[in-house]
Amino acid sequence: MALQLGDDVPDFTAETTDGPVSFHSWLGASWGVLFSHPKDFTPVCTTELGRVSALKPEFDKRNVKVIGLSVDSLESHKGWVGDIKETQGHALNFPLIADADKKIANLYGMIHPNASDTVTVRSVFVIGPDKKLKLTLTYPASTGRNFDELLRVIDSLQLTAKHKVATPSDWKQGQDVIIVPSVSDNDAKSLFPDGWKTLKPYLRIVPQPKS
Ligand code: BEZ
Repeated sequence: MALQLGDDVPDFTAETTDGPVSFHSWLGASWGVLFSHPKDFTPVCTTELGRVSALKPEFDKRNVKVIGLSVDSLESHKGWVGDIKETQGHALNFPLIADADKKIANLYGMIHPNASDTVTVRSVFVIGPDKKLKLTLTYPASTGRNFDELLRVIDSLQLTAKHKVATPSDWKQGQDVIIVPSVSDNDAKSLFPDGWKTLKPYLRIVPQPKS
């Protein structure tokens, strides 16, 4: 059965461009992003790996470890890394898993046979410090991902893990949020002592809590 939100993510060992990785211990107490690439030496994947390398300080700031995967060999990855640096202006600065036998791709359901039975789709798994799956995204091979959106949803996941709030459509860091319906008005008084705006009994708007 496909991995679902709230599931414990499977552990694995893998060869990567940064050496062997034992996934759960590599994650440690950090948040994690595991994302798949259909194939080495392909154009969209090359731009994605350059973009994530450029954004690495943003992931670090959020205590998120990033790891990529492609179903090619370590030798192939090492050749491709040079192209990423040359064409994207950023050297790869996080591990890229060599999954030539598709062990991890199958474990995480990254191969969707009706799209392709030989390469992965563009899967993203966001994993919490408790090793549970917090969010998934699935894009086809032909569409590069928006990593600003990934950072945005990580901001929401981290905020809502800590406070009894939810984030509205298109929310960005610093904007107002919503008090979750399970919090009564009475309990909200102590959680949000500066008050909130009630648009409907179920739609209560409050400034984003400070971390
Ligand atoms: C790409 O990364 O450009 C790509 C990979 C597989 C199929 C189509 C595009």
